[in-house]
Amino acid sequence: MENTKQKILIIGSGGREHAIGWKIKQSDRAGDLFFAPGNGGTANIGTNVNIKATDIQTLIDYVKKEKIDLTLAIPDDPLALGIVDEFKKEGLRIFGPTKNAAQLESSKAYAKNFMERHKLPTAKFATFIDYTVAKEYLEKHSLPVVVKVSGLALGKGVFICETYAEADEALQNILIKKTFGVAGSVVVIEEFLTGPEISTHAFTDGKSYAIFPTAQDHKRVGEGDMGPNTGGMGTIAPLSFVDEELLKNIENTIIAPTLAGMGEDGNPFEGVIYPGLMLTEDGPKILEYNARFGDPETQTYMRLLDTDLLDIIDACIDGTLSQIKINWKKLFACTIVLASGGYPDKYEKGKIISGISEAEKLEDIIVFQAGTKYDDKGNLITNGGRVLGITATGVKLEEALKKAYFAVSKITFEGMQYRRDIGKKIMALQQKI
Ligand code: AMP
Ligand code: GLY
Repeated sequence: MENTKQKILIIGSGGREHAIGWKIKQSDRAGDLFFAPGNGGTANIGTNVNIKATDIQTLIDYVKKEKIDLTLAIPDDPLALGIVDEFKKEGLRIFGPTKNAAQLESSKAYAKNFMERHKLPTAKFATFIDYTVAKEYLEKHSLPVVVKVSGLALGKGVFICETYAEADEALQNILIKKTFGVAGSVVVIEEFLTGPEISTHAFTDGKSYAIFPTAQDHKRVGEGDMGPNTGGMGTIAPLSFVDEELLKNIENTIIAPTLAGMGEDGNPFEGVIYPGLMLTEDGPKILEYNARFGDPETQTYMRLLDTDLLDIIDACIDGTLSQIKINWKKLFACTIVLASGGYPDKYEKGKIISGISEAEKLEDIIVFQAGTKYDDKGNLITNGGRVLGITATGVKLEEALKKAYFAVSKITFEGMQYRRDIGKKIMALQQKI
């Protein structure tokens, strides 16, 4: 790319998109930023455009009209719908995997068959479309057993079942009652894995890749990993118990063969690949693939990334990633998610949020916004389940967490809930090693 300022459109409306925009804005080559549809936080650093992330044709028309130079396709659903293919057909520059490559996330059945074909480490599994056949298989399976909706289900389509009755209920809900619609037309039944769960990410241009430091999300809503799964309640990075040797092992047994396998299958993967892993006694195993940046991992990662994000993204698109050296700050970072009362079930919106500027006056604190917007009077109000991500950095993880929780104490909105134990499990594990 020539050295002029680029007009950039970031698709999505979460804390992840705010964090990516915040980082991109630091690039000398970043011009005006646009977010579709964006949130209260992205409105402070760019222009929010009222187009849904999945309305691909309207996005294409907007990009042409506004002469946007580069679009970043961040969330899973537009990727699954083929936004990258559609943009490329129109000759528009876009970052993200094609529809075929994004199947690694949008179809768990595809992903599991891919892993089997390329001999990648994952839980033993079988896929079903018929309830009776699935039930027969289930009855011979050991407990606990994991039942998964194959399609996209906002992290809510996974059932860890301790009893056959629970597993049968999940199968009935998915295959007979169709509670997940077409996303549940195929079911995956798989072996239950145990071990610490970690997030790995890598930038890739389809040939080369650059792995991020490892991170850990906290998916359950409640402390001590209790309660239902959410989009993610907090993250920490890097994980110091993942040493060089383990990271190399993950690279060699998971990241490199996944990308090579996609290339061999004729679906080279361009963008960010995010395998969720379980570190089992038999080595790291893939729980799932995501074909995008994690949320809230990205909020933590953007605090650590020490290389121009726009340079990396351009290199991924241009196939020149191997020419870039990506640096990460030698610090720890964390994100504490502040959510609406009731989330991940029903919750109210429209609660006034206060204290963000007080929190951001504190050292090393950045607040990324997710479910927020400005009302007619200019008040910042809640507009979603996950509302804010309070991020902090520190020389030690403990220090980053302490700063983040102090910043949390400055922020209020009615019904606000958050986990007070982000990072605790990792700190306990580190002390044991
Ligand atoms: P997924 O959407 O496939 O990542 O599943 C959501 C969560 O369910 C994961 O983050 C794990 O905590 C859990 N999970 C998924 N698959 C398994 C498995 N085979 N064994 C144990 N836990 C699992
Ligand atoms: N951190 C969970 C996800 O992005 O899927």
